[in-house]
Amino acid sequence: MFEDKLPILEIRNLTKQFALEGGKQLTAVDNVSLELYSGQSLGIVGESGCGKSTLAKIVAHLDSVTSGNIRYMNRDITHLQGEELRQNRRKLQMIFQDPSASFNPRMKIGNIVSEPLLNFKLMNKGEAREETKKLLAMVGLPETIMSRYPHQLSGGQKQRAAIARALSLKPEILVCDEATSDLDVSIQAQVVQLLVDLQKEQGLSYIFIGHDLALIRNISHRIAVMYLGRIVEVIDSEVLTTEAVHPYTKALLASVFSVKGESNSAIGVIEGDPPSPLEIPLGCSFNSRCTKCVGKCFGEKPELKEVKTNHFTACHLCSDLGEDV
Ligand SMILES: Nc1ncnc2c1ncn2[C@@H]1O[C@H](COP(=O)(O)OP(=O)(O)OP(=O)(O)O)[C@@H](O)[C@H]1O
Ligand SMILES: [Mg+2]
Repeated sequence: MFEDKLPILEIRNLTKQFALEGGKQLTAVDNVSLELYSGQSLGIVGESGCGKSTLAKIVAHLDSVTSGNIRYMNRDITHLQGEELRQNRRKLQMIFQDPSASFNPRMKIGNIVSEPLLNFKLMNKGEAREETKKLLAMVGLPETIMSRYPHQLSGGQKQRAAIARALSLKPEILVCDEATSDLDVSIQAQVVQLLVDLQKEQGLSYIFIGHDLALIRNISHRIAVMYLGRIVEVIDSEVLTTEAVHPYTKALLASVFSVKGESNSAIGVIEGDPPSPLEIPLGCSFNSRCTKCVGKCFGEKPELKEVKTNHFTACHLCSDLGEDV
């Protein structure tokens, strides 16, 4: 399914450390490698604090890397600067949990959506206004909303406006960080459906981040499971519930899905809390919560290995899929 195509985006050995007061280093993202394929969605799922947003911000050039690199269409974009960085932003846009945070509250929606078109000098004001009408129609918003201010919109309308603004530059990749998490379940479903439709129509590629495994599974072709800054499993979403092998993925699945594989609750019932990223355990980082650990799990960090075609996991016990962990 993937091997004959080059990824549109490649993340290689990406690490991000934050220097804290007192000289401590917090490793938020630890040696992460992932690929995103054109026209597909890569879901990134994991508990709060595991490094999802940090990874997203680095990919969107909103934060710097400590080490590793990012390639877009086989070109290294890790350290772009100036005009090259500006142009790259057109190709890769980000949508956040709270769209208001990126909206100027004193600007009308029409101006918010058309602003990138004018900033990049892609058209004149009249043309940008016409384009804005089309963009709003594309995300299911009426033209009349152009004269409203952000606080006069519902959460769902604001998120649609944020999607319209992000799409104005005709990006190829959208990074959605908890983009639907603040919305009511029914509105969430509508916004997710909009993203799915836009992907089909425009061939967009998504990195879709969240902690709702059921929702992420529905929108994603591939799923990367993250724990304490590391990727512990990467698997096709179609076989997530039947073929996942990492004990953490299995614990997430057990916490989210009923025996029928249907449910929609967020992660929250795995026993215990993840350790602090300041005190990552030696060996496997999941060893303090894993019920299957053997001696090796406390001494040696498991690397992400392919256990079956296109199925990767970082677990000493899962290196052979024949072993049911
Ligand atoms: N600027 C920063 N300085 C120091 N530590 C940071 C900074 N940004 C994030 N962190 C830490 O990095 C770790 C990962 O944070 P991040 O926001 O990426 O997690 P997340 O997976 O997005 O969590 P959530 O699901 O709650 O959004 C956390 O321990 C966080 O406290
Ligand atoms: Mg986050």
